[in-house]
Amino acid sequence: MRRRRFLQSASLATLFGVPGAAAVGKPRPLPPGSLFERDPEAWWGRIREEQFLLPRWRAFLNCGTLGVPPVPVIRAVAESLERGASLVDEAYPRWGYETLEEYRRELAHFFGCKAEELAFTHNATEAMNIVANGLDLRPGDEVLTTDQEHPGGLCCWLLKQARYGIVVRQVAVPVPPKSPEQLVDLLIGAIGPRTRVLSFSGITTTTGLVFPVREICRAARERGVLTVVDGAQMNGQLPVNLHELGCDFFAGSPHKWLFTPPGCGLLFVREQLLDGLWVNVATGQWDNKKLKAARFMQVGTNNRAVLEGFLAGVRFVKQLGPDRVYGRIHQLARRAREQARELPHAELLTPEDDRLYAGMVAFRLPEPIWRRTLQLSRRRGLWLWGGPHCRLSTHIHTRPSDLDTFFETLREVARG
Ligand SMILES: Cc1ncc(COP(=O)(O)O)c(C=O)c1O
Repeated sequence: MRRRRFLQSASLATLFGVPGAAAVGKPRPLPPGSLFERDPEAWWGRIREEQFLLPRWRAFLNCGTLGVPPVPVIRAVAESLERGASLVDEAYPRWGYETLEEYRRELAHFFGCKAEELAFTHNATEAMNIVANGLDLRPGDEVLTTDQEHPGGLCCWLLKQARYGIVVRQVAVPVPPKSPEQLVDLLIGAIGPRTRVLSFSGITTTTGLVFPVREICRAARERGVLTVVDGAQMNGQLPVNLHELGCDFFAGSPHKWLFTPPGCGLLFVREQLLDGLWVNVATGQWDNKKLKAARFMQVGTNNRAVLEGFLAGVRFVKQLGPDRVYGRIHQLARRAREQARELPHAELLTPEDDRLYAGMVAFRLPEPIWRRTLQLSRRRGLWLWGGPHCRLSTHIHTRPSDLDTFFETLREVARG
């Protein structure tokens, strides 16, 4: 308790590089574009310093698990809670019974689809479950997927297999693959006579491999197979246009890379398929097809403030420019890959082809080196994914020096 009060003191907090409560005050404008032209590193440095609450001592390299919302998002959530509690608006501060047309219109514009095709969920896991449980499949119907799926995109199909006798077949994906074309051939070539659904990650969870989603979806459609894209890692890591991707269903977790608060998810259902999908959670309106995708948002009372944060996250990216954001994320990831390539003990899991990765770089190290690196990294303020190999996520708040600190720590451990 005393320690908390101690840290709340703004001046002491500043001394330790922790932004005090004042940092959650009014969001600051972005630094001037002229600075970006003159000195992009300084511009990104100011973005981190002024738009995020990350203390200077923290090097955060794990957006692949859960990202951090910037100040405008935190403000939007706080203001929404305040407004809701004061009851100045004639509406309940909730979602779960509403259709929220305006919110969905704004998001649909950003994600390149129709508002009628979008529903809010809490995360990608939920969106994947809505699709898997909502589709009518018969015993023996096959769902084709890969051996690289996150449990959140796989277990919904395994449950259906156990309960209804569908068949789940997992295609082995080479890590790293040679080219996007190889991935298309692999998945499309695996389609068999009973395949009804092809379900795969747009970006894989443990190595950040980017699949050629558009090409795969087009080829699957030609063969009459439905496509379900687990896009948990996609929104915010690279620009996403859902109609251009051409998938039938898409599940997103914008709380990883798109700066939203935790608990923000996205479900896209292609318009023509909406009526045939059953809801998982039933309350009033469960069968009102006129609601289009909003039928899947009728799930009982939820916190509207989180959705205000969702919109604020999207607006933040729009303000920065999605291409500029992607450019920075990928520039840093390439730097991480180059540093990893120099390590004598590392086996790279990220291919060289720029099309095959965005903001995640993965490599395998001898187990004792990796374990000791994790321990020492934690002591140095590095926040890493703790999986069996190293997976680094780079975002716009990542400093080049964060990567240098990590690789220096790793080399130190390897030297013994
Ligand atoms: C590809 C993929 N799918 C699904 C998930 C689950 O995400 P969430 O917990 O936000 O539902 C993750 C999380 O890392 C993921 O990487």
